[in-house]
Amino acid sequence: MSVALSLQGVHRHFGHTLVIQGIDLEVQTGERVAVIGPNGAGKSTLFHLISGKLKPQKGRIELNGQRIDGLPPHAIHRMGLARSFQITNLFAAMSVYENLRCSVLWSLGHGYSCWKFLSGLKDANQRTEALLDQLGLGHKRHSLAMNLTYAEQRALELGVTLGSDSAVLLLDEPTAGMSRSETRHFIDLIRQVTHGKTLLMVEHDMGVVFELADKIAVLAQGQVMAFDTPDKVRQNPQVQSAYLGVQAEGRTAHA
Ligand SMILES: Nc1ncnc2c1ncn2[C@@H]1O[C@H](COP(=O)(O)OP(=O)(O)O)[C@@H](O)[C@H]1O
Ligand SMILES: [Mg+2]
Repeated sequence: MSVALSLQGVHRHFGHTLVIQGIDLEVQTGERVAVIGPNGAGKSTLFHLISGKLKPQKGRIELNGQRIDGLPPHAIHRMGLARSFQITNLFAAMSVYENLRCSVLWSLGHGYSCWKFLSGLKDANQRTEALLDQLGLGHKRHSLAMNLTYAEQRALELGVTLGSDSAVLLLDEPTAGMSRSETRHFIDLIRQVTHGKTLLMVEHDMGVVFELADKIAVLAQGQVMAFDTPDKVRQNPQVQSAYLGVQAEGRTAHA
């Protein structure tokens, strides 16, 4: 197995607030890793550090053995890492098809502005069709993104993330705001479309986390409290009292 993503001693503070306080993490190629932890633990910040939106003040981040910390997001994206945003990031006045096609074209190096002039680009068209099919959004291809249901928008957003065909995906709370049944459905979709890819995902639904993840990273106070298989994490006394125990008392994980 090869290492897809490696973090060594990563630190990030905002002013006097220490948010990420020395994170070490190694994700193998093809692994699905769930990142869990209470609100404010630094999960989104961690994803921003990996994707290049934020730079660490200390430490090292590698993607497939190549150093990426300090590089701009588009450079990291080109090296094979795609992320979805916690906030929906779609072109509201464009159709489902156009949103997907833009993402495919962007990854092929054409930029957003060119889509109109490249309708003959077979490669991109085929990939867009395949994405529509995978997402189950074929019947909505002509709908504007803003007219989709919330769950459909999240599916489209997932498709936009997948459009680049990146091998490593970061999804920050992809099921946020969904009902339990929508969440179940969406996780099935994530499972299908991320087959063979390396996935790092922030997720609050513990049922989903324990079912989907090969490994779970528990973040607390900006550090990795545990990083192991779901079974081992479940049995970890430190995690139980600090995190899972809270849930057992009827409060939500992110309360
Ligand atoms: N740009 C920023 N400036 C100042 N503080 C920030 C910034 N981004 C995040 N924080 C702080 O970092 C902490 C962790 O935030 P975040 O990574 O969003 O946590 P999580 O995603 O685990 O809920 C919070 O206390 C938050 O207020
Ligand atoms: Mg967050």
